[in-house]
Amino acid sequence: MPAHDRDIIDHFRDALARRFGLAFDDGKRTFLADVLTRRVGRGGEPAARAYVERLSAGRIRGEEAAELVRECTVGETYFFRHPDQYRALADAVLVGRERPRLRILSAGCASGEEAYSLAVLVREHVSDGSNGDARVVGIDLNPDALAKAALGRYTPWSLRGVPDDLRQRVFRVSGKEHQIDASVRALVSFEERNLLDDAPDFWYPGAFDAIFCRNVLMYFTPEATRAVVDRFARALAPGGLLFLGPAETLRGVSNDFHLCHAGDTFYYQLRPAGETAAVSAAPVTAVADESWVSAIGRASDRIARLSRGARAADAPGPVAPPRPGGGTAPRDPAPPGLPAAREMVRQERYADALAVLGSLADAERDDPDAKLLRAVSLTNCGQVGAAERLCHEVLAGDELNPEARYLLALCLEHAGNLGGAMEQDQAAVYLDPQFAMPHLHLGLLRKREGDRAGARRAFERALALMPREDAPRVLLFGGGFTRETLLRLCEAELRATGTPQ
Ligand SMILES: C[S@@+](CC[C@H](N)C(=O)[O-])C[C@H]1O[C@@H](n2cnc3c(N)ncnc32)[C@H](O)[C@@H]1O
Repeated sequence: MPAHDRDIIDHFRDALARRFGLAFDDGKRTFLADVLTRRVGRGGEPAARAYVERLSAGRIRGEEAAELVRECTVGETYFFRHPDQYRALADAVLVGRERPRLRILSAGCASGEEAYSLAVLVREHVSDGSNGDARVVGIDLNPDALAKAALGRYTPWSLRGVPDDLRQRVFRVSGKEHQIDASVRALVSFEERNLLDDAPDFWYPGAFDAIFCRNVLMYFTPEATRAVVDRFARALAPGGLLFLGPAETLRGVSNDFHLCHAGDTFYYQLRPAGETAAVSAAPVTAVADESWVSAIGRASDRIARLSRGARAADAPGPVAPPRPGGGTAPRDPAPPGLPAAREMVRQERYADALAVLGSLADAERDDPDAKLLRAVSLTNCGQVGAAERLCHEVLAGDELNPEARYLLALCLEHAGNLGGAMEQDQAAVYLDPQFAMPHLHLGLLRKREGDRAGARRAFERALALMPREDAPRVLLFGGGFTRETLLRLCEAELRATGTPQ
């Protein structure tokens, strides 16, 4: 462990966040201390202080900045990584278009595999063998990676996701490496840019039709993520598309985009300008003013509020009756009628809960949490059509709401729309990977469709998540079952789907 004091490491961490957007939690202190030691060599404490000051002042640039970022990030990439997203882009903007005029950005392109994959995709879809009117720009702040990208030479390992026939069409073997075809290279340019730096001549309105920024924002602070996504929204043409990595979502980050689903993947489409304003004015979108992390925390608090006054399904002890006047906890800011309704849901008195929720004043009834509680009660009363309409209402204000997506999946299954139900479950788990119930539901739906392997994967995931699932969420969305029962159900389903193939 290097001898840098906590103070320097904190400053180093702040400077990395401000200069490059990179986020490190407390558990990464030792890692950061090691990085700093390597950057300043034998210079010790004074050199470390001077280095952090230069970094804060934006005076660490070029090779040194690249080295620093390389130490702090993962540059892993390969051709056609997350292939569903390339198919989704092709279906959305390439299929059926003769000579598409397209400007695509690969933001955080590393050594260029993503940018070239996009160019290959375009070429494969332009029928006259030309490049049409398409351009791909790759940007990164690592000049070494960009130099490699410009060469266009790759090892077979980088090409592991490229089918053989395509490999033969667009690469020429050169010694132990593969050289990308000149016609593909002609479509692509690379620039050294920091995503955090504003450059109006680059990020002008309508500059891009699609942006791929995958496996980059997951390393960013919430503030940097929001700033970069705002920049993307401003630089995208109307209806432009944004592709993030599979572990990255815009939940709690931006309301400027619609969530789109294709195959096993999700991506985003810029909302029309007027629509954005309408949505940001809605109370539910207050989450956009918060950090990504606190938004997730807030979602959990919100669920807790929804069910506060109701004992968690598996918590021991007597149930406290609702207080006269409604409030179950002094700091509960929820509408006053809600606590009574929650308690009724906990007691499975769904019709009573609906009566209470129906008597709320208009503003309270329009609260998304009240709508979700009503949707839960309606589902349990068999009024699934009405519950479905409410889910759509909640999603119209906040389409990144995982609980509304999950409830909608239950409603769609009830209506016989299994495909739609699976899509909503997938959206729910994409938006909140810790949400156990949609995994379980997805497993049951896949089993019905005869997809045993897919069902098994979903049950395994549900089984792993269920012990850690929020107790209030089990209460509200567990269909009246306790956590124990849901766990046993996962285990039984896993046994029923047999051993993995
Ligand atoms: C894991 S790679 C992602 C490569 C590719 N997008 C993919 O998904 O395969 C992350 C890249 O983001 C780049 N990066 C990190 N912070 C950046 C910033 N502030 N501006 C530009 N690029 C950045 C890193 O240099 C690295 O090359």
